Amino acid sequence: MTANADATDRATTYRAVRLRIDALLEGETDWIAAMATVVCELNAAFDYFHWTGFYRRIGDELVIGPYQGGHGCLRIAMGKGVCGTAAATRETQLVPDVDVFPGHIACSSTTRSEIVVPVPTDSREVLAVLDVDSDERDAFDAVDQSNLESLCAMLGHRFGRLHAVGNGRSADNDD
Ligand code: SME
Repeated sequence: MTANADATDRATTYRAVRLRIDALLEGETDWIAAMATVVCELNAAFDYFHWTGFYRRIGDELVIGPYQGGHGCLRIAMGKGVCGTAAATRETQLVPDVDVFPGHIACSSTTRSEIVVPVPTDSREVLAVLDVDSDERDAFDAVDQSNLESLCAMLGHRFGRLHAVGNGRSADNDD
């Protein structure tokens, strides 16, 4: 699905992707496995997603998690760049033009727009952020935002309970 598709097509694609993600994650308790699956499904479904990945909050930093696309920055300080701003404010950052976002971190020179959505736990901690970058300017809209926020809310509710925020691992995998 391309960025030119209308809002109805976009919403229909999100519904199909979400059904697949929900089915694939049924019974899954491992946070890394969940992130990898979500990234794969999203990146495959939307042609305008050119970098799709998670940064996990570990201490005062965001550390790269599963992603698809060219290599991303490994660590981002809280409050820095689009990702660090989303994590620090706990608010989605929808950036139509990265060139006018103060402090944007250019991991790829081809990125023109991006959306970063926090993954909130039930206690309002930020478990991670989902970062989607596009080589097309103004690629993301309110349909992307509402669907990605709903997906991240589900992930934070489910995996925030299984995972000690800050250590990057699933609680049930700590041995
Ligand atoms: N552009 C992001 C950095 C992450 S990468 O682009 C993969 C930012 O400003 O936070």
